[in-house]
Amino acid sequence: MERLTSPARLMIVSDLDHTMVDHHDPENLSLLRFNSLWEHAYRHDSLLVFSTGRSPTLYKELRKEKPLLTPDVTIMSVGTEITYGNSMAPDHGWVDALNHKWDLGVVKEETGKFSELTLQAETEQRPHKVSFYVDKSKAQEVAKELSQRGGMDLDILPQGAGKGQALAYLLKKLKSEGKLPVNTLACGDSGNDAELFSIPDVYGIMVSNAQEELLKWHAENAKNNPKVIHAKERCAGGIIQAIGEFKLGPNLSPRDVSDFLECKVENANPGHEVVKFFLFYERWRRGEVENSEAYAASLKASCQPGGVFVHPSGAEKSLVDTIDELRKHHGDKQGKKFRVWVDQVLATETAPGTWMVKLDKWEQSGDERIGCTTTVKFTAKEGEGLVWEHEGEGLVWEHVEQTWSEESKLKDDSSWII
Ligand code: GLC
Ligand code: MG
Repeated sequence: MERLTSPARLMIVSDLDHTMVDHHDPENLSLLRFNSLWEHAYRHDSLLVFSTGRSPTLYKELRKEKPLLTPDVTIMSVGTEITYGNSMAPDHGWVDALNHKWDLGVVKEETGKFSELTLQAETEQRPHKVSFYVDKSKAQEVAKELSQRGGMDLDILPQGAGKGQALAYLLKKLKSEGKLPVNTLACGDSGNDAELFSIPDVYGIMVSNAQEELLKWHAENAKNNPKVIHAKERCAGGIIQAIGEFKLGPNLSPRDVSDFLECKVENANPGHEVVKFFLFYERWRRGEVENSEAYAASLKASCQPGGVFVHPSGAEKSLVDTIDELRKHHGDKQGKKFRVWVDQVLATETAPGTWMVKLDKWEQSGDERIGCTTTVKFTAKEGEGLVWEHEGEGLVWEHVEQTWSEESKLKDDSSWII
């Protein structure tokens, strides 16, 4: 969070399963739409928070299965574990707060008395969370006796824990640092997300596919709160819709723009140039854009003639040759479930008119995923000063360098173009 020196323009706090992630969409389209919107318009001045019931183990599994972005804050195990940044550094203050009046031994002993409860997997038992499966018909009764909420999953947490309390704690912490986000949007689909919507001043969106238990909670508790809506779209599509309805900022995903040459930018950032390029790259290899001279010419026109690309294998090539290479691959991924997304796109102005954009670029082909840390050096076109603020065309690609991400090291690199 130190990344931002001033309050975030928007903080999105989203549940994962059936909210950010649509398990019924093998193409992950709404998630990919959200990803490019976030990297294009929000990453540089906003905060992304995932809040999931999953333990760190199951969260990491989901990251391998789905094209999830890297959040600034990860709240796991139903609000009982808060971590920061890429290294997922734990919040020890929160651990101390939860330890208060919590005795794991007593919880295990008391719950052991209920034959209706079946313990969940070992990975889901955490220092401040004991989780069971319970038959829906018995859930209410058992939950009442244990004075906890019920569902198909039953989580026993310390008093003062839960997704809502974790968010309240995070907001308080940000406020104490003078970085209370300008707007916060909470997103969810099920019962344990309800508390997210009870935090004062927070906008809330229940995705269209929200579960009955959440809708019921809403009807009984938040029906007259105009800050909470039930979206018309599923999962991440609903989040994009809510950003628009609450007027929290741009909500046109670059993925929804069919001709990238036409894609004009409000609130621009040099990072947008990269988001746009890799989207074009995906469409080019999927054969969704025409194999036309105009595209190649436009790409070449935005490269410095002597510009170099350092391939992750270490081989060097001119940028112009790289575009020629790309031309040969038009449509080669047609019908191959090929997707490209970028993560953590961050631009720094290193000198007046010069930007370094750093990002992770991911490529998925069928079940295989490879990624590269990418650095792009841009300069403003001579005589055009800061025109990039209005038109991407004011920027020149000077140098591109890539190195394999940790997970991609042992993979075959012969098919990686850029
Ligand atoms: C996730 C967790 C599980 C928990 C459920 C509901 O599925 O893995 O332990 O019971 O969320 O909070
Ligand atoms: Mg969910």
